[in-house]
Amino acid sequence: MARFENYPKVNGLPVPKFITQSQVDLIGGMEAFTDDIWIVTYPKSGTTWMQQIVKLILNNGENDERTLSQAVPWLEAANNPDPSFDYNQIDISNMSRPRAFKSHFPFHLMPCGKPNEIPNKFIYIARNPKDVAVSYYYHQIGYQYLSDLTWDDHFEGFLDGKLPFGDYFEHVLGWWAHKDDDNVLFIKYEDLKKNLHTSVQLVSNFLSMQLTKDVVKKIADQSTFEAMKHHPGANYGWASHRRHPGAAPFMRKGVVGDWKSHFSLEQSSKLDDEYVRKFVPVGLKFDFQ
Ligand code: PPS
Repeated sequence: MARFENYPKVNGLPVPKFITQSQVDLIGGMEAFTDDIWIVTYPKSGTTWMQQIVKLILNNGENDERTLSQAVPWLEAANNPDPSFDYNQIDISNMSRPRAFKSHFPFHLMPCGKPNEIPNKFIYIARNPKDVAVSYYYHQIGYQYLSDLTWDDHFEGFLDGKLPFGDYFEHVLGWWAHKDDDNVLFIKYEDLKKNLHTSVQLVSNFLSMQLTKDVVKKIADQSTFEAMKHHPGANYGWASHRRHPGAAPFMRKGVVGDWKSHFSLEQSSKLDDEYVRKFVPVGLKFDFQ
């Protein structure tokens, strides 16, 4: 599909147009700290949700004026030479420690170096492929201005690994292979949805942050879909000028199973086949019926 062939490539990986090889190379050369924290996902898997949780954990449950793009910047989108590109709105060299970053890179291409060779902590969030495909469809219409993109075309592009950040299955499997590494926490969107409170506790334990029960509750309360949808620092309202007018909001539905109102039977069985072939043999399961 020709329209998916135009994404630039960084280290062989298709990326959105505002990310260039030189930007990513700069990350490799920046000063890194041993206590840096990374939130990593295939797009539309719960990145922003985890940014909110981690921001609040590092702030002992208190929210502040910073947007999530300022508190937990998307590192590969930083260093854009265009001064009007306001994605991160923050000077990374002045961030207080521990710093937390967002990335959509696969394990083997992480711009900070190989995760299993550095002491940083990595929180990887995975979401079932069907809801990711749907959420990504609305993202493409909204942010990439592909308002004439049909769901069927998008589905084929997703299945073929043609969208920014490449093949969904390879991405998830690359991190799943390291799920037992001491510095990796592999967590599923569906589990966050099932028990947000337990998930917040799990993440704070992983980050060695001692939080009281009240603070954990306070964080969970501020990280529900409804709370984030209405919080200007958490709902991407600051980037709404980058969206196609009339597109669905960034905080769109936030549910498990929205795929059922988009997939044809044939599309569903195509993705089921991939799931059974690639995830089931390595014991990776998602609850998304
Ligand atoms: S991005 O653009 O890659 O950073 O997107 P990402 O944040 O990974 O994913 C966006 C989807 O996550 C949903 N979301 C949530 N769901 C439930 N609860 C909370 N608190 C929450 N925050 C974000 C968001 O609505 C997008 O999913 P869809 O299915 O499109 O609604």
